[in-house]
Amino acid sequence: MDHGKVQGCATPDEIASRLETTTVWAMPASWYWDPEIYAEERHHIFSRHWLCIGREQMVSQPGQYLTASPAGFPIFVLRGEDGTLNGFHNVCRHRAAKLLTARTGSSNGLTCPYHGWRYDAEGGLKHAPFFGEARDFPKHELSLFAIRVDAWRGLIFVNLDLAGSELEDWLGPLASAVAETAPAEVEFHRDVEFEIACNWKNYVDNYQEGYHIPLLHPGLHRDLQWKRYRVINFDGGSLHEGPARGTSSHPGLFGWRFPNFTFVSYPQGLSFLRMEPLGPRRVRLVYSFFRPAGVSEQDFEETFDYGMEVSKEDQWITPLVQENLEAGVYEKGPLSPRHENGVYYFHELVRDALAST
Ligand code: FES
Ligand SMILES: [Fe+2]
Repeated sequence: MDHGKVQGCATPDEIASRLETTTVWAMPASWYWDPEIYAEERHHIFSRHWLCIGREQMVSQPGQYLTASPAGFPIFVLRGEDGTLNGFHNVCRHRAAKLLTARTGSSNGLTCPYHGWRYDAEGGLKHAPFFGEARDFPKHELSLFAIRVDAWRGLIFVNLDLAGSELEDWLGPLASAVAETAPAEVEFHRDVEFEIACNWKNYVDNYQEGYHIPLLHPGLHRDLQWKRYRVINFDGGSLHEGPARGTSSHPGLFGWRFPNFTFVSYPQGLSFLRMEPLGPRRVRLVYSFFRPAGVSEQDFEETFDYGMEVSKEDQWITPLVQENLEAGVYEKGPLSPRHENGVYYFHELVRDALAST
């Protein structure tokens, strides 16, 4: 099948000049449901980028762990005695059982629930009970598969690629944009999750443009100067500027980092959203809201509700789009040079990642 793949992703500048000179097109509809494409994405996108999996507070004490399964890779992070976070694939080296099955918990030793193999906090195999006297048993080669772990703004990120860039470099201009626009001190407000019947890219597409704001988000539209809404692509992501209208200070700065991490930062607070693929046709949205220090939980609820109203509107349209992407009538559509430069850049990054297969 010809997927319209390109070799080498265009830079944000090249994307901008291409949008000025020609009509550009969205990726093929089949990419939003094809299991083969999803399998390629798992290995060529989600195995190579930093993925947010939760918050540092979930593993604040030594011995506490947090499991996750980003894009179907079961992993866990564990707080060591010295306070560092170590991360591993959640897979026993014997016959692949999951070592940890709860979302969070505390362990003073990692014992596989299947046949009892024990590992230390650094992932080394300590004991394979009742295994018998196997000749040349390569105990030291049977450590858990390590992954990388880092944290930013209270969020835990993992990277399955041991050789990729550092988290700070990967975040790029997004980190300074948050530092400049978010309240100086924030505290955790709450997490909220939704499962939506659509491909993860369908939801990213929606996030990556303000074109739909007037019709889909009437409340948000009242609060921002939509004609001045603009998306600025940077290497691997985009920043969205939506200047506030009149006295409103609700809109702020939106940002996205390929593949699935986003934020909204404004004077009243800071929220993060990640779109976790659960398969080719299903995505979990995970929001983490932070309120400015000193603002009460009750007072922040209005800001939270505002964010949820916008989210619900997006959650309504994306499954409707998904149904049509799967129906086999629509192949691909043109992208607006004024409003969908962020969508196009996202599609180019996907095309480029899959071209390496
Ligand atoms: S699968 Fe873990 S001990 Fe057998
Ligand atoms: Fe939206």
